Amino acid sequence: MSFEESNMPKIIVALDCDNEEKALSIAKKLSPKLCALKVGLELFVSYGPNIIKKLHHLGYKIFLDLKFHDINTTAIKSSVAAAKLGVWMMNIHSSGGTNMMKNVMNEIKQNNFDTLVLGVTILTSLDDKDIKEIGYANNVKEQVLSMTDQCYHSNLNGVVCSASEAKAIKEKYPKNFICVCPGIRLSENNNNDQKRIVTPEIAAKNGADYIVVGRPVLDSIDPLASLKNIKDKFYKAL
Ligand code: C5P
Repeated sequence: MSFEESNMPKIIVALDCDNEEKALSIAKKLSPKLCALKVGLELFVSYGPNIIKKLHHLGYKIFLDLKFHDINTTAIKSSVAAAKLGVWMMNIHSSGGTNMMKNVMNEIKQNNFDTLVLGVTILTSLDDKDIKEIGYANNVKEQVLSMTDQCYHSNLNGVVCSASEAKAIKEKYPKNFICVCPGIRLSENNNNDQKRIVTPEIAAKNGADYIVVGRPVLDSIDPLASLKNIKDKFYKAL
C-alpha cells in the first residue's frame, strides 16, 4: 500500500523552533498528506496548547514530545492534560519506572483517550560512553531493550528508540507495538548533536514504524523537497 493510500503519515517532522511564525510557515509549506508534525519542548514551552490548535487547524496529526518523567501523580495528570489536547501521540520517559507507566496507561484507557503513548528509551544523542557516565551498567542496545520490555509490560503503545535498535524490537514484540525513530540522517556528515544516526533506508529495513526528522527538513532551503526526498527513500525501502 502506498503512503497516500494508507493515509497514515510515516514521517514525523520535528518542528523544533521558538518562533510561531516560522513553525506555521514551515507547516504550510509541508502537507498533512506527507507527514505528521512533532511539537517538542522548545515550541510548546514558547506557545503552549495554542500552537497545537493552530497545527490541528491545518490538518496535521501531532506528536507531542514532552517526555514526561516525574512522580506518578504528576506524570498521570500531565498525560491526561496532553491527551485532552487531542494529540495523536505523546510520550513519557521509561526511566520514570513501570509503576508510573502503568498508571499513566490505566488513566488514559479509563478515560477513553485514543492518544498513543510511547516510552522514551535512551536518547539518540547518547552513546555507550555517555550512558556509562550516567551510571547504566548495560550498553545502549541492552539498555534500550530492557527499557522497551518495561514499556511493553506497562501496556504502552510503543517506544522511541534509534532505528538501529528497531530490528531487535520489531522481532520480539507484536506488530502493533510501534517504534518511533529519531536520529535520521541522509549521511554521516551532518549529525548535529545526534550520535545513533540511521539513514531513512536502513530505518525502513529495520522496521521503524515512523521516523522523526527535524533539522534535515527544517534547515533545508526547500523543506518540502527535503521531506519528499526522505519520504521517497523511506517508502522505497519498506
Ligand atoms: O533535528 P533532528 O532530526 O535531530 O531532530 C530529532 C528530534 O527528535 C528532536 O526534536 C529531538 O528532541 C527528538 N528526539 C530525539 N531522540 C529521542 C527522542 C526525541 O532526537 N530519543
